[in-house]
Amino acid sequence: MASPPAPKLAGLRICCIGAGYVGGPTMAMMALKCPEVVITIVDISVSRIAAWNSDVLPIYEPGLDKVVKACRGKNLFFSTEVDQGIRDADIIFVAVNTPTKKVGMGAGRAADLTYWELAARRIASVAETPKVVVEKSTVPINTAEAISAVLHGAGKTRFDVLSNPEFLAEGTAMTDLDNPDRVLIGGNMNESGKAAVAKLADVYAHWVPRERILTTNVWSSELSKLVANSFLAQRVSSINAVSAICEASGADVDEVARAVGMDSRIGSKFLKASVGFGGSCFQKDILNLVYLCQSMGLADVAEYFHSVVMMNDRQKERFVSRMIHGLFNTVTGKRIALLGFAFKKDTGDTRESASIEICRRLIEERASVCIYDPKVEADQIWMDLTAATKLDKTEVQKYVTLCDSAYEAASGAHALAIATEWDEFKTLDYGKIQEDMVKPSFVFDGRNVLDHDALRELGYIVYAIGKPLDPKLNTSINC
Ligand SMILES: NC(=O)c1ccc[n+]([C@@H]2O[C@H](COP(=O)([O-])OP(=O)(O)OC[C@H]3O[C@@H](n4cnc5c(N)ncnc54)[C@H](O)[C@@H]3O)[C@@H](O)[C@H]2O)c1
Repeated sequence: MASPPAPKLAGLRICCIGAGYVGGPTMAMMALKCPEVVITIVDISVSRIAAWNSDVLPIYEPGLDKVVKACRGKNLFFSTEVDQGIRDADIIFVAVNTPTKKVGMGAGRAADLTYWELAARRIASVAETPKVVVEKSTVPINTAEAISAVLHGAGKTRFDVLSNPEFLAEGTAMTDLDNPDRVLIGGNMNESGKAAVAKLADVYAHWVPRERILTTNVWSSELSKLVANSFLAQRVSSINAVSAICEASGADVDEVARAVGMDSRIGSKFLKASVGFGGSCFQKDILNLVYLCQSMGLADVAEYFHSVVMMNDRQKERFVSRMIHGLFNTVTGKRIALLGFAFKKDTGDTRESASIEICRRLIEERASVCIYDPKVEADQIWMDLTAATKLDKTEVQKYVTLCDSAYEAASGAHALAIATEWDEFKTLDYGKIQEDMVKPSFVFDGRNVLDHDALRELGYIVYAIGKPLDPKLNTSINC
């Protein structure tokens, strides 16, 4: 049965606090789908807002440019006037960052809600009329309740706090937002809570079929986001654990993943072995869940989920160990071309990218690392590497060079390491590349995206995750 027509939204004003990877794309899509709604995205970062208002957007996401250009200045606005945005809005999304705490109680696990609380206090102090406040950021359970206390502390007006976690994946954000598997809205079960849920559901109903808009209580919604990311990451860690068994036994991880994934109870997605997952969310959200479990006295549950992160760390170390042992037990002074620095293809985001840890370890081993990534800015790479190594930039530059192409990075290299699955790496001329490499030339494919047989025919010694080991690779030490 077709969904009933979505209610008219004319006159509705939405504000989103936080113009990042979530705030920007989600609100751009909402503006495109609801032309009668006026949406203002506000941020304290002047440079980010200036970039959103320019021709070069602050984040790279396929399809985003087109949508922003279609709506910007019509019903989509980017501004640093946070207070004005709050005052004018009926619905306020909060999509600020919630990183893992670095210091204090729960450091290294709990979510740092400082930015969230600051945003909530700003809303409380300037709002003059009732508002629906929507948690878009990923937050621990009970945050809505805490935020509600902060909002109502000022005692000026009424607020309904909803949880509406975002499930988009970077790199496919625009298609995910256009056609989401589900939209989840959690709210209080009192009358005003139900009305707020219905108001937000009406917005999404402009392009999402009603049966895909799930409404739950607020705690289920908050928890579902943490659990969804933990399950996704758990699948990656499971197949990565299997990749180690494959290498030790001669099985092929892709064959195993295919056979296992064809079981309709299991499914085939997220069974791709790799150098490890990255991104701003998986690790942070699992650690957040681990911390919650520990605070609830559920030590064994916490340990279970924590093993997913430990396995991910282990996979990155395994990859570096394979390189070191493969390259005759030392990489000191050897040139390694690291292809890819983003945490996945089709994004310029490097948060928790496996490349950072690989690079840190190679610097520790005194290798000479030549990095090429098609989208990541040089400043970002230096920032990541100085933070990871705790060295200053000049010191890092003794070991790391940034290159403008894969060919430049590979010239004179002992080995190529594929750290991000960018499509362009599949079609490089590996014959030409090898001519300029030190012999024997090695390829370490951390994403299993290359044609390994073809590379071997060209004379490369190839290591690929979870694949039968190349007889020419030094495998005297099991990794
Ligand atoms: N990136 C993803 O793929 C993704 C997916 C789903 C959910 N999430 C969650 O969404 C949230 C945001 O993630 P992101 O990747 O967009 O972060 P981000 O760091 O890209 O963006 C956050 C923005 O919020 C701004 N900000 C912080 N405090 C502010 C304040 N008080 N007032 C105004 N602006 C403020 C920052 O300047 C920044 O531009 C996080 O909780 C994250 O876990 C992210």
